[in-house]
Amino acid sequence: MARLVIVSNRVPAPARRDQTAGGLAVVLEEALKGDVLWFGWSGRRVPEASSKPSSATRGTITFATIDLSESDYQSYYAGFANRSLWPLLHYRTGLVAFSREEYKGYRATNRKFAEALMPLLRPDDIVWIHDYHLIPLGHSLREQGCRQRIGFFLHIPFPPLSVFDILPPARELIVDLATYDVVGFQTNEDRDNFQGCARSLLDGNQRAQALTASVAIPVGIDGKAFARMAETSRMNAESHRLKHSLVGRRLIIGADRLDYSKGLPQRFEAYSELLETHADYREKISFLQIAPRSREEVTEYRDLKRGLDRLTGRINGKYAEFDWVPLRYMTHGLSRKLLAGFFRMAAIGLVTPLRDGMNLVAMEYVAAQDEDDPGVLVLSRFAGAAASLDAALIVNPFDTSAVAEAIHQGLMMPREERRTRWLNLMDRIEQDSAASWCRRFLARLTDTKLRAAS
Ligand code: F6P
Repeated sequence: MARLVIVSNRVPAPARRDQTAGGLAVVLEEALKGDVLWFGWSGRRVPEASSKPSSATRGTITFATIDLSESDYQSYYAGFANRSLWPLLHYRTGLVAFSREEYKGYRATNRKFAEALMPLLRPDDIVWIHDYHLIPLGHSLREQGCRQRIGFFLHIPFPPLSVFDILPPARELIVDLATYDVVGFQTNEDRDNFQGCARSLLDGNQRAQALTASVAIPVGIDGKAFARMAETSRMNAESHRLKHSLVGRRLIIGADRLDYSKGLPQRFEAYSELLETHADYREKISFLQIAPRSREEVTEYRDLKRGLDRLTGRINGKYAEFDWVPLRYMTHGLSRKLLAGFFRMAAIGLVTPLRDGMNLVAMEYVAAQDEDDPGVLVLSRFAGAAASLDAALIVNPFDTSAVAEAIHQGLMMPREERRTRWLNLMDRIEQDSAASWCRRFLARLTDTKLRAAS
């Protein structure tokens, strides 16, 4: 069996595999069963970075990481990846900032990744690169003589040409993507958008390669494992504390990184509208939003946090009673395990991003439910997950009145309808599991031809 080399910006600490790397370790579970090298950034910023990776082994997995210098971190991660690509790929052209210096730093850091990784590669390795931080990495590896199969998966959306093309190096990035043997996207729409860009910006072999290499393979979760986690977590002390604090009120829950793509201000406004238009719910429901702070070095994230702090104050100030807080808002994260138990308790799961690659929280909320008395998922039509989870209450997150109405519909929904919808959702979650995502992507990559020696 060939060794699998996973490359991602963040690499989980060997001891805490399930809680870091943005959940990548959880969806890669199936791929992590064999001989694996996982390569990426150590998470450390140092004055002078050495190009030699440090490594640690746990079971069959070797983790190899490099540090980043402060200036590489600023241009690559806080700069081009998160101030240019992230807003652009989430269709937020108004938030896109572009600096040639940062772009140069982004490419240079990708070259450094390639230089550090090359000596670790074996001839029959299969290389699987993840996400927007590392788009040029395959190209850099090829320039340095790498002939192994290289696949790339984009975990976030890919917009149409009219949006993508505003980025000055748009063409160069499409060329980078066309270098891969397989380029994976979450949805047909993302893949079609990429193919549209390739058709306009490339020609000849590059265009043909981009079109044949691009595939839509939706990522998923292990629904049964999450359901088990929810069932056991329901019994733990924190779940009891939450239940006790609700004093019989029905729980509405949201759990998202504090990111402007998640539509949190609109969600809070929708909740406020619900309390305004359906006053009967006052003191009978409680909305818990868990929103761990993220990328705080980027201005837009700090602005978002300030806005949400104000909005929370306004909503609670207006509707709270001396013994009832309508909106519980916390900006630190909880473990997946605790979340699983909390999801199970919630009558409504609110997943309303303005744009999202897939959104696994939507699936986790569904998987956590009690099948005899499941809660209702309110899901944005702009999350990749909406393509398969169409038995949820699908909403346009920009339409706060419609979201308020959907919460109301969910709270009023008879048990039979909740069960029918839930069974349908669970079927879809089991079809597109994390394991099948890994298998489908790797089968496709293994099927591609090895490059001939030049
Ligand atoms: O969704 C893209 C992604 O890279 C995820 O893999 C992860 O959850 C999140 O963003 C983490 O962001 P960061 O590495 O910037 O903290």
